[in-house]
Amino acid sequence: MNQMYKFLLTVLWLYISTSESAELYASSCNDDTKTDNTTQLSRNIDALLHGLVQGAAQKGFLTASYGNGVNQIYGLAQCRADVSGSDCSVCLRDAANQSRKLCPNQADVRIWYDYCFLKYDTAKFFGQVDTSYGVFFWNVANVTDPDVFNKKLSTLVDQIKSEAVKLPGSRGLGKGETEISAFETLYALVQCTRDLSPINCAQCLSVAIGNFGTYCNDKKGCRVLYGSCYVRYELYPFFFPLDAQGSLAYNAAKYESVKVYKP
Ligand SMILES: *[C@@H]1O[C@H](CO)[C@@H](O)[C@H](O)[C@H]1NC(C)=O
Ligand SMILES: *[C@@H]1O[C@H](CO)[C@@H](O)[C@H](O)[C@H]1NC(C)=O
Ligand SMILES: *[C@@H]1O[C@H](CO)[C@@H](O)[C@H](O)[C@H]1NC(C)=O
Repeated sequence: MNQMYKFLLTVLWLYISTSESAELYASSCNDDTKTDNTTQLSRNIDALLHGLVQGAAQKGFLTASYGNGVNQIYGLAQCRADVSGSDCSVCLRDAANQSRKLCPNQADVRIWYDYCFLKYDTAKFFGQVDTSYGVFFWNVANVTDPDVFNKKLSTLVDQIKSEAVKLPGSRGLGKGETEISAFETLYALVQCTRDLSPINCAQCLSVAIGNFGTYCNDKKGCRVLYGSCYVRYELYPFFFPLDAQGSLAYNAAKYESVKVYKP
């Protein structure tokens, strides 16, 4: 594996719950947050988060800033574009609350949930591709026929990527499915943050998909989470509209994950 990569955390996940919505995937905090007044920074973060949580649910996306000078804080809140407004609202509220617990006096914070993503920083980051922190989840089970699977996966992912980059109309979302065999269907979804230009969305997704060989090789399911995009595929339906079989299959799947920081 690439020497440049610094491994922060490895966890083994066993999913036993059907409730995916409130699921926290990962978070990152920067311990070197620059501020001349922690109290003021903290107030600005709270005010920013309040505004983001209130404002983002309806459209599923919002960028905002609060405060001024060294303690000015910039934030982005976004839900997966297939998620309902009410699920989005619940997810962002959880994300805001959790971020303040996990990163109490810090900026440069990212927090990933299944349905939503939240980021805030003292630097203005809107429109920039962020692939510095990556979180990778893979199903430990291998596919039975890697040749057929990888060909179908690659075609499907290319297709939904080309949909997602048609921002702003696409809302950064591409999703689709393809039959692997008479018994198996492959589902995939890609999502860029909606502050990105089409070319930056394409760049983030290319980096994410470029990790398939390292983290997702021949795996039955995989997720790549970055500050600017999200890519996931599974052999069960996981995006909306979801059918009843989805949660059954989901319960049986076992995942491993790693969080990687590439400065
Ligand atoms: C820090 O900010 C708080 C809240 O605005 C303010 O009450 C306090 O006086 C500030 N402290 C300094 C040292 O500027
Ligand atoms: C945190 O949760 C409480 C109660 O669930 C809620 O009232 C509050 O608005 C949340 N905080 C943020 C920043 O959303
Ligand atoms: C999947 O394949 C890899 C590489 O061939 C192997 O190391 C691993 O044990 C397999 N996993 C399972 C669950 O069979």
